[in-house]
Amino acid sequence: MQSHGHYIDGEWIEGSESFESRNPATGESLGQFPRGTEADVAAAVEATEAAFEGWRTRSYIDRAEHLWDVYTELKARTDELGELVTRECGKEIGEGRADIVEAAHMVEWAAGNARHPHGDVVPSEIAAKDSYMRRKPRGVVGCITPWNFPVAIPFWHMAVALVEGNTVVWKPAEQTPACAHAIAELMTDAGIPDGVFNMVQGYGDAGAAIVDHDAVDTVLFTGSAEVGHEIGGKVGGESGKLAACEMGGKNAVVVTEHADLDIAVPAAVLSSFKTTGQRCVSSERLVVHADVYDEFKRRFVEAAERVAVGDPLDEGTFMGPLIEADHRERVLSYNELVREEGGDVLVDRGQLDGSEIPDDHEAGHWSGPFVYETEYDPDMRCLHEEVFGPHVALIPYEGGIERAVELQNSTPYGLSGSIVSEDYRQINYYRDHAELGLAYGNLPCIGAEVQLPFGGVKKSGNGYPSAREVVEAVTDRTAWTLNNDTEIKLAQGLAADLKTDDD
Ligand code: UN1
Repeated sequence: MQSHGHYIDGEWIEGSESFESRNPATGESLGQFPRGTEADVAAAVEATEAAFEGWRTRSYIDRAEHLWDVYTELKARTDELGELVTRECGKEIGEGRADIVEAAHMVEWAAGNARHPHGDVVPSEIAAKDSYMRRKPRGVVGCITPWNFPVAIPFWHMAVALVEGNTVVWKPAEQTPACAHAIAELMTDAGIPDGVFNMVQGYGDAGAAIVDHDAVDTVLFTGSAEVGHEIGGKVGGESGKLAACEMGGKNAVVVTEHADLDIAVPAAVLSSFKTTGQRCVSSERLVVHADVYDEFKRRFVEAAERVAVGDPLDEGTFMGPLIEADHRERVLSYNELVREEGGDVLVDRGQLDGSEIPDDHEAGHWSGPFVYETEYDPDMRCLHEEVFGPHVALIPYEGGIERAVELQNSTPYGLSGSIVSEDYRQINYYRDHAELGLAYGNLPCIGAEVQLPFGGVKKSGNGYPSAREVVEAVTDRTAWTLNNDTEIKLAQGLAADLKTDDD
């Protein structure tokens, strides 16, 4: 079995303890990886700090050149790396490839941005003053990333952070260390100088060591709300440190009485079941107007009963397995909770029967669509808590768009959502009143492009750790003013002459 290391200060380092990565569809081993300790993180942060001065004093364009090499490799190796993603996190192969495509887009955006104008020229009240904004890298950036986009999300964090002149210490998800290893190899092949990029494999304790380290200036986190709030709370209490966190949601698709059901049904299926419901933008609520409810329900239930769950390497599969056994238990326990809370179960493929599980895949963490209906009830936990699986509620409503949006907003989260309607007034009302970071009309609520800000409001996030908005998280801005005159003149009518007692 191949063994792998951490990547610290330009070297592959072995660890004292190790853990194994397993294919969630088959149980097959994908290798042993070192389990990072506080000492590994300390060594990585030290290297990251030492490399900062040399890296930040290069030009944007020099720094971006390394990322272009990464981009070229991602493009050339999309199929091979996409297959690795599918093997390690269980997403069907089309989604495995899309993960690499999204990573390439992010790198392209960050590296391309190096040749674009940066900052603003700002007019001054004094004609002889030049004012403009300069960005400076914040320094050591700690990145903590999830397993469900094991290549794309690390590049959301790291591509911009590096081009802006920061140095990085990264803790990938413990479920996808082989994908992380492949990324570290791309970085070394691209000749990124020693210490500029460092990776420590491992579990939450290694992530916590990054968050706690005094020399880490910025933490970028994408993952569960529980961990994100802990990080936000800790880092928020330390002046000079910043955290940008993007967490989950209890996302909804709103289907109004003016919806085209030929859009509404596929939008709801894609939102609820793509990635086996394991996107932070997946929908777990479908809020449907009473006038179209019965027809929508009939068509959605039929689709949920038939959607292809199976071998994620098979092009005919729509949904692969869940990521791990504990997660499957969690999803099944929420399916059970629906029954306890009085929801009416319409489709329960939570425990697939043997004939639905592909041959030689008995060790996979299989669970299919679970659909229930209920009147809205603010006390039902299953309507407010994120499950992160193919588990979705049909909630009928009556009345105007205001009621639909009230239901949309009735959770503590605010990440993603969509409205399906042919009525532009309803769409505009939703756009202006839905409490969301990402909102869509006549589309699924998944599939954001990297050049958009990505992040949530309310419990879903406190920053936008992706693309354009990462620039804000990993740089400080200086408002710079230079006087070109031979004397000092001040704005706001302030006198610049020095008055003395002799005057
Ligand atoms: C996630 O849901 O965890 O918008 C990330 C999307 C993808 C990223 C999703 N670009 O669906």
